[in-house]
Amino acid sequence: MSDKSYDVIVIGAGPGGYVCAIRAAQLGMKVACVEKRTALGGTCLNVGCIPSKALLAASEKYESAGHHFEDMGVKVSGLKLDLPKMMSFKGKVIADNTKGIEFLFKKNKIDWLKGEGSIPAPGKVAVNGETYDARHIVIATGSDVTPLPGITIDEKQIVSSTGALELEKVPDHMVVIGAGVIGLELGTVWRRLGAKVTVIEYLDRILPGMDLETAKATQKVLEKQGIDFKLGSKVTSAEAGKKKVTLSIEPAAGGKAESMEGDIVLVAVGRKPHTASLGLDKAGVKLDNRGRVETNDHFETSIKGIYAIGDAIKGAMLAHKAEDEGVVLAEMLAGQSGHIDYDCIPGVVYTHPEVAAVGKTEEQLKEAGIAYKVGKFPFMANGRARSMNATDGFVKILADAKTDRVLGVHILGAEAGTMIAECVLAMEFGASAEDIARTCHAHPTLNEAVKEAALAVDGRPIHI
Ligand code: NAI
Repeated sequence: MSDKSYDVIVIGAGPGGYVCAIRAAQLGMKVACVEKRTALGGTCLNVGCIPSKALLAASEKYESAGHHFEDMGVKVSGLKLDLPKMMSFKGKVIADNTKGIEFLFKKNKIDWLKGEGSIPAPGKVAVNGETYDARHIVIATGSDVTPLPGITIDEKQIVSSTGALELEKVPDHMVVIGAGVIGLELGTVWRRLGAKVTVIEYLDRILPGMDLETAKATQKVLEKQGIDFKLGSKVTSAEAGKKKVTLSIEPAAGGKAESMEGDIVLVAVGRKPHTASLGLDKAGVKLDNRGRVETNDHFETSIKGIYAIGDAIKGAMLAHKAEDEGVVLAEMLAGQSGHIDYDCIPGVVYTHPEVAAVGKTEEQLKEAGIAYKVGKFPFMANGRARSMNATDGFVKILADAKTDRVLGVHILGAEAGTMIAECVLAMEFGASAEDIARTCHAHPTLNEAVKEAALAVDGRPIHI
């Protein structure tokens, strides 16, 4: 095989792409990965999941020290925010993670082709004027911010998630457009650091797609923390002035527009697949009506030898969904078989408390006409939650009314994102609520609330 010829060329080094490259290399294939950023890791490691979690962790400490330590007998004086230091902490977290991927590429003998990749023809990948041959090409180019018509994101006053991770000072008033995951996580960061935060949402609820009861309870908790919500409202324009941004907001149902001012406006109305620079039309790769690369169950596109995974194709735009697809695809390319149960992909919102979910919501079960039982248990009745002073939220388990099989789990609570793992595993193994209820859970742990909710499915929780 020549220097410019590979078994697999992956385009994009985000969680989908780099994981696919590593797994393919582990299986003995000659692999290259094309990436145009100066660091590996994609949106997730550079301007997404990882930096936002660094700021969420740091801002939570600041808020706890300022407002909650005292409840537990810890007095703090002279508390000060050092925003540049917090940002450099975030920068170090990013650098350590992205360098980690570079190390893994070297370890697995994966060539990093630096630059923007395109597919001039099936079996060919062009990068920086060079053309490489590949038996298999994997599109893992991820997604981009969805713009709002009429609103120009300047990443200074009107920002996307990228700019919201880089603000040089705490805004007096941050207006967030969109009460999805990004709006709530980054709104939370800046609220904790001292900004007034108003979230404007088109729908009459927050967190679309998540279980409605859990979303409503989340809204209440976030309101208690000081976030203002304006639901059923559509932002139609945002004009950046010298100091302030002026927004025009209409009721979603129609009616008179009103205006609002903010220092910073965060546009968080979703993401769209990033495929424009690939030249897919030249290669003949078909997109669906939402601009996503069309794939079958084996991640094959309309052209033989070209595959796609992650945010660029259908399904939840989540790093771990992309990673799993990357692994399964690499294994399929090596002649193995693979499968992903998309009902067992968890989703987590990293506010405090966290929101975590897997499987079906109550709304989805009703719509599908599936009879179900509900078991709920509040953290207020969990000894560990009380001793952590973290009693907001509950665990809610939805189980099939006839078979008792767990169909969905929704958790609002401290560390919900960690707790959901046992529920995902249970669902992967086709567990019943009774299986979870009969599994010994260490005491005292937050996870005991999962066991109690499972007991509650059968009307027999112990602690309520
Ligand atoms: P999203 O799709 O979750 O939420 C966008 C919200 O904006 C929706 O509720 C929508 O109704 C609202 N909206 C749209 N146009 C509007 C308008 N003109 N005025 C007012 N509201 C409007 O999108 P988001 O939060 O930007 O996230 C993008 C993607 O990134 C999602 O797929 C999400 O799952 C993923 N993500 C996941 C994270 C995690 O797993 N923790 C963290 C960050 C992002």
